[in-house]
Amino acid sequence: MQTQLLPANEAGIAFAARLLQEGQTVAIPTETVYGLAADATSNEAVAKIFAAKGRPQDNPLIVHIAAMQELEGLVRTVPAAAYKLAQAFWPGPLTIIMPKGPKVADAVCAGLDTVAIRMPSHPVAAAVIKKSGLPLAAPSANRSGLPSPTTADHTLRDMDGRIPLILDGGACKVGVESTVITVAADTPTLLRPGYITKEQLEQVLGEPVALSDAILHKLKEGEAAPSPGMKYKHYSPKANVILLKGSQQAYREYVCQHAEVGVFAMCYDEEVSSLPVPCVVCGSRQDEAAQARRLFAALRECDEKGAVTVYAHCPKPTGVGMAVYNRLIRAAAFQVVELEAAKL
Ligand code: TXA
Ligand code: MG
Repeated sequence: MQTQLLPANEAGIAFAARLLQEGQTVAIPTETVYGLAADATSNEAVAKIFAAKGRPQDNPLIVHIAAMQELEGLVRTVPAAAYKLAQAFWPGPLTIIMPKGPKVADAVCAGLDTVAIRMPSHPVAAAVIKKSGLPLAAPSANRSGLPSPTTADHTLRDMDGRIPLILDGGACKVGVESTVITVAADTPTLLRPGYITKEQLEQVLGEPVALSDAILHKLKEGEAAPSPGMKYKHYSPKANVILLKGSQQAYREYVCQHAEVGVFAMCYDEEVSSLPVPCVVCGSRQDEAAQARRLFAALRECDEKGAVTVYAHCPKPTGVGMAVYNRLIRAAAFQVVELEAAKL
């Protein structure tokens, strides 16, 4: 199959809508990452997403809509908490898990009786949904296990020859995937951290939001994942990524002691000048939003530059930093060195 890369102008959007109506897949920009979209009401169309990504069949997809009235039939009910969250954060980078309605193809939810719904704020994503007249199932447009794509070029690298069309809408502004919260259980629970933080969700809901264990820790052998995506290897470049936890000084000392050929540092802007190895920068230490925006591009850059081992300076797991931390520990396959302890 030949993959076309077209600008996300009116003609490109109209072509994308036509392909989607015909049951094809199309990669589209969203404010978080690029998504690989297909008609969420068709098992056949959705099967093409799983095939193109090499995605395990038991990992459910997010359904994207452009207006609240499209929820009808996609969900069985809109719980009060979901309504409040939608009012506050849609359109935007928040996915809400609700009871599944009959319109959603079974393959989307991988056998679960809940469905993940998001209303993206990116004008191109919204335009494609409106023009096609379809709810769109769309996971991140990477090959399963690799870092999510934040540009059309990254998407092409993963999807060339596997899908008919990629719409180029420039670089994604948020850079990490949407925050995922479930309101299908008694206590609202954060399943995946993102740009919308736990604190923001709690403020709108007026109650505490539980944090799924798998966000900051590795699932134990045999432990059930509340969100199936949590159990898979994720976001990994070819290089061996190791997270170093500690102060700027401790980080620098450790990297200096391990400065062999093939060693790269994934560090903050402020640290580059003091490190003796090639650096891939991930934004300023103070600027968590910039770190989120840069993260996946930085992981891809490590591979492009031939890194063998990447020592990444661990971010603080709070605010938007929780999303960065959550993706990085998976990219590192949970290899973390506690620097202050390592010194003893
Ligand atoms: O920002 C985003 O959310 C991007 C863009 C394209 O919208 N999409 C995205 O999709 O990140 P994906 O498939 O890469 O991640 C969806 C996550 C997975 O971890 C999946 O397991 C979880 O959401 N999920 C989907 N449906 C679920 C459900 N019914 N219950 C629990 N988790 C669910
Ligand atoms: Mg993904």
